[in-house]
Amino acid sequence: MNDRPERREAGLATRFVHTGFERDPATGAVTPPVYRAVTFHQDDPWHPDRYDYSRSGNPTRAALENAVAELEGGCRGFAFASGNAALTAVILLFSAGDHLLVTRDCQGGTQRLFRMVFSRLGIDVTYVDTHDPDQLTRALRPNTRAVLAENFSNPFLFVTDIAALAEWAHGHDLLVVVDNTFITPAGQNPLRLGADIVVHSATKMMAGHSDVTAGVAVARDPAWAERLYGIQNATGGILSPDDAYQVLRGLHTLPVRLDRASRGADRLAHWLLEQPGVTAVYYPGLPQHPGHAVARDTVRTFGPIVTCRLSDPDRAPDFVRALQLVEVGAGFGGTETVCSVAALHCHGALTPDERRVRDITPAVMRFSVGLEDPDDIIADIAAALERAGLS
Ligand SMILES: Cc1ncc(COP(=O)(O)O)c(C=O)c1O
Repeated sequence: MNDRPERREAGLATRFVHTGFERDPATGAVTPPVYRAVTFHQDDPWHPDRYDYSRSGNPTRAALENAVAELEGGCRGFAFASGNAALTAVILLFSAGDHLLVTRDCQGGTQRLFRMVFSRLGIDVTYVDTHDPDQLTRALRPNTRAVLAENFSNPFLFVTDIAALAEWAHGHDLLVVVDNTFITPAGQNPLRLGADIVVHSATKMMAGHSDVTAGVAVARDPAWAERLYGIQNATGGILSPDDAYQVLRGLHTLPVRLDRASRGADRLAHWLLEQPGVTAVYYPGLPQHPGHAVARDTVRTFGPIVTCRLSDPDRAPDFVRALQLVEVGAGFGGTETVCSVAALHCHGALTPDERRVRDITPAVMRFSVGLEDPDDIIADIAAALERAGLS
């Protein structure tokens, strides 16, 4: 009888700590060395080793790429200099004449990318609510090639059922790309639900300390991975080894930070509901949110982002200027709580008309809840509401 204990499958937090890098065989180091070398010597250039030139491959970047690929359940990952560089590489998989369906309520930078760059190159886009199958079906054209779903959406946090989307899309021969920045690989793994490619702005929760700009794309299938690699190598928007190291370090604590920040966000969302100066609160953890049931069934956490609408847009500047602990600006997913004025920050890249149809008025505030004590965050927001005459 073999009485050796059965090997348990590692839990989520364990996998995030131990993935991507096995101890350095040369030194025993438990974190990866940062390889800044651009050129890697070839003993026999006719039979090249794995690395030859850093744009084409770098061991530190590979440690991050392998880690995210493994955590997302894909076959290969690619790290870029920003989330938008990762998105650009993915969109470059398509050609002039192709048409894509994209989440209407997506980050401003994605919409600017299509408006300023890809529309000129002949790639057409229709914005739809990717959580609404009827809208998807109505928007379909003979030249539609893919759906790009941002989940949760931004800033109103609509929730797309990725498994249902993938089933529908594959039935129409479409590629499914999911921007998983908001939920992170600790909250949901779209590739395991049927998506083909997942994209991240690693600048946000993944790196997690507001000190690095980075992006990652992961493909589920080797054929798409090969094409993405070709684009990464050809266009060269790669992540530096130092920044790759920073993101890898952030990954180790991601489940812990996500869990803590999500609990703070949940407290803030419930508290905001009670405030007379707030007319709407958008948070998938609230039972009244339209995406609550899907989120409850498909993600591990409701996430750190809470959006709300102030009752009086004219008082928004006073509210924002009165915040003291909460930072004000673009970006999210750091250790500090940040308030973004949606019309100026996360959706400042939209035209006034694009904001109007999406109902992004000056009263819309998006909070990224950090790791401070939730009581302190709430006290700061309460004081600012009061000073702005919104309490
Ligand atoms: C969902 C989402 N995807 C992509 C990006 C772009 O990322 P980056 O700022 O790293 O280029 C952002 C930026 O806010 C984002 O929110």
